[in-house]
Amino acid sequence: MLKEVIATRYITPLREGGSLPGLVEADDFGTYVMKFTGAGQGRKTLVAEVVCGELARRLGLRVPRLVTVELDPVLGLGEPDQEVQGLLKSSGGTNLGMDFLSGALGFDPLAFEVSPEEAGRIVWFDALVNNVDRSWRNPNLLMWQGELWLIDHGATMIWQHNWPRAQASAARPYDALDHALASFAPDVRAAAAELAPLVTDELLAEVTAEIPDVWLADEPGFESADALRKAYAQPLVARAAVIHERIEGIK
Ligand SMILES: Nc1ncnc2c1ncn2[C@@H]1O[C@H](COP(=O)(O)OP(=O)(O)OP(=O)(O)O)[C@@H](O)[C@H]1O
Ligand SMILES: [Mg+2]
Repeated sequence: MLKEVIATRYITPLREGGSLPGLVEADDFGTYVMKFTGAGQGRKTLVAEVVCGELARRLGLRVPRLVTVELDPVLGLGEPDQEVQGLLKSSGGTNLGMDFLSGALGFDPLAFEVSPEEAGRIVWFDALVNNVDRSWRNPNLLMWQGELWLIDHGATMIWQHNWPRAQASAARPYDALDHALASFAPDVRAAAAELAPLVTDELLAEVTAEIPDVWLADEPGFESADALRKAYAQPLVARAAVIHERIEGIK
């Protein structure tokens, strides 16, 4: 289970983020980057963050700790910014939080060196979950305490937006041409040999169990939250075995 905290104070919006993530303080005195159910694509983005973040962590990649943040929309009343106020008012209940890496720098491919092994693991993982949001324009990678950290997995698993066609969609290749780590000679074969055997039904059951039930409720075509959890797991297990042969745009 993800740790559950309660938002006590909205600190500030993180202006770079397209979905208007914000910094909040919680009842455990922690500071979290919060992503709101009321934003853009709503809860599916948050489900993707949990599935990919918790899977990446279990594969040994660095992802800031995820928590759920309970929000009382009353917190929005004092917000002078109309957009922020609207977001807080429409996001009552369970939202996503992530440990705020204070002092982290955005990854700059010209300023940092990444080994082919690490680049390979990250490119392979992004291919697995079909992450289209790790380009050199917008890497969604942070440098913190000398290490590379993965953030922002909202734009992954495109198939979750059309379940009847998910199998066909998940069979498609991954285009890594614009990937932020494409120029570091990513060794995706070594990564696949190491990581693919770990992506099992058991691991995905553990990962998808972390998704809060409320984000899975009332999905058309699914009679329970657990049935939908299996739908998230299945394409990833299938893809893990073959995706290294379907990564385009890198040598
Ligand atoms: N855990 C964190 N610690 C420190 N800074 C963070 C963290 N998470 C996000 N940020 C900062 O906030 C920015 C926006 O976060 P994120 O990319 O997750 O939001 P988004 O709305 O999905 O963004 P976009 O769609 O623009 O890529 C990041 O680029 C980064 O600078
Ligand atoms: Mg981002």
